[in-house]
Amino acid sequence: MARMYQVTFVPDNVTVETEAGETLLDVANRNGVFIDSNCGGFCACSTCHVIIKEGMEHLPEATEEEEDQLDEATGLTLTSRLGCQCVLGEEGPGEGELVVEIPLHNRNAPGIIGGHDHDDDRSHVTEHAHNEGH
Ligand code: FES
Repeated sequence: MARMYQVTFVPDNVTVETEAGETLLDVANRNGVFIDSNCGGFCACSTCHVIIKEGMEHLPEATEEEEDQLDEATGLTLTSRLGCQCVLGEEGPGEGELVVEIPLHNRNAPGIIGGHDHDDDRSHVTEHAHNEGH
């Protein structure tokens, strides 16, 4: 039986149910919640910065690469993570709830949507989208 997680993105207050194995970045984008991802999810930027308000125990420990990239993020907090590196359910009890805050500078980034050529990297995500949310 699939392991299920409930993820709430704030401040949008969008709650989604999802299975283990996806990154927070993919879960958000698939459900119409915008998180920037300049490098396409390869831990090579810090634009997918999110703040884990609840449920850190369901995510893997940050790698050194993630920590290094996070150092570049604006508004870093103790529970900051890179959305593209947080694979749900890689650690922890196997199901549960998370609350994920998307920092302000990532939410309304002007010129990001459709403005860069990294769309290819997201095409696999939008394929599954049932709610584009734009
Ligand atoms: Fe670039 Fe996550 S999308 S580090």
